[in-house]
Amino acid sequence: MRRYSSEGGARVKANHGFVPYKFQTAGSIIAGQNAISELVPRIKMHGDFRHAVIVTQPSLKAMGVIERIADELNQAGISSRCVTEVKPEPTVDNIREVYSNISAEPVDLLIGIGGGSVLDATKLFSVLLTDPVDVMSLIGTDLVLRPGIPTVLVPTTSGTGSEVTPNAIVTIPEQELKIGIISRHLLPMMVIIDPVLTVSLPQAITAATGMDAFTHALESYISNKANPISDMFALESIRLIAGSLCRAYHTGSDLEARENMLLGSMYGGMALSSAGTAAVHALAYPLGGKFNITHGVANSMLLPHVMAYNMDAIHDRLGHVARAMGLQDGMEGGNASSEAVIRRIFEWTAEMRIPQNLRAFGVTEGDVDDLAVAASKVTRLLHNNPKPMDLAAIKSIYRKLLP
Ligand SMILES: NC(=O)c1ccc[n+]([C@@H]2O[C@H](COP(=O)([O-])OP(=O)(O)OC[C@H]3O[C@@H](n4cnc5c(N)ncnc54)[C@H](O)[C@@H]3O)[C@@H](O)[C@H]2O)c1
Ligand SMILES: [Fe+2]
Repeated sequence: MRRYSSEGGARVKANHGFVPYKFQTAGSIIAGQNAISELVPRIKMHGDFRHAVIVTQPSLKAMGVIERIADELNQAGISSRCVTEVKPEPTVDNIREVYSNISAEPVDLLIGIGGGSVLDATKLFSVLLTDPVDVMSLIGTDLVLRPGIPTVLVPTTSGTGSEVTPNAIVTIPEQELKIGIISRHLLPMMVIIDPVLTVSLPQAITAATGMDAFTHALESYISNKANPISDMFALESIRLIAGSLCRAYHTGSDLEARENMLLGSMYGGMALSSAGTAAVHALAYPLGGKFNITHGVANSMLLPHVMAYNMDAIHDRLGHVARAMGLQDGMEGGNASSEAVIRRIFEWTAEMRIPQNLRAFGVTEGDVDDLAVAASKVTRLLHNNPKPMDLAAIKSIYRKLLP
């Protein structure tokens, strides 16, 4: 049941009366081209740090930026170590291993530079350093008991928006699932948004992470928990991404498109922090956990089909989305604009060569039942979906991707 309508600014009470909503974000955000040069001076303003650990991945270390930051930290009297062992879409075991490496020596500041995998891991290391419990005991909502050590998060994909969300996602191979740890203690002290760092993103990662960001914005906008604050970020995210995703994909050096994508991704993270994602993410997690399908690719494949399923419950909202995407039909509302949104998503996935068939990843008809049962357990997100989705509906959506 939708809780309010933003049509004409009028608020409508739902079944349960007025529902308060919440927004929280990073402590401070420094954005713009070459914003990374502000990192060390700003850190000095935040506190008297002595021992930093830079969490990143080999592909980013090769870019030279890490070395430059380490030099600047050194000149500022802050020692630093660099760890590059966080794996893409990290497992619980990977988090445990890298944590034990980090915690072996003094550390009072963590700087995460990378995609969502690095940022999520950095957030977890931060809270484990002040409360060294097993990471499995944190899975769920509000189970982190203490603030962690301060973090600076620098996203290099556009992206998960993880830099501004209270979420960290881990993979549990034994359960063939990806699952979330949600706590306000995961929010960072500072975020640096620098589009120059995303110019090196290969085309396939630009496509997948850009579609993930778009999915965050769209799912937040149609979520049962959508509210005036999340709507503002969601619509602006949709506008920015719709105007820049294919530009960034075709011309990676287009800094204006890269900046729009990074802002769009951050706004998507802000929207989802408040409104949550929904069925697309719920159905994507088992595809990541069981078949290692990259998060953004899984979302891209599911997005148009889940929106087609939801369509009759959200025509009004998809009309606003169509307008934000610059689609002419958006002015008319109803079926036409909803279908235009879904059509455009299919066009993007085709233009950016994102697969639309699960068989390409080894999924068969025989896997559908297990995938659907796993997805049906992601109730935290399914509850946000504007239209209830039972097991049969989930199976029929997976089957659409097995033509
Ligand atoms: N915390 C949240 O709110 C949230 C939201 C959505 C997704 N996630 C999670 O984030 C993870 C995915 O993150 P992602 O999509 O950003 O991908 P990623 O972090 O796994 O990165 C993908 C690949 O791109 C490389 N890379 C990153 N930046 C690069 C650059 N500038 N140049 C060249 N290569 C670069 C990485 O080294 C990696 O190999 C998943 O685990 C997903 O579940 C978290
Ligand atoms: Fe996502």
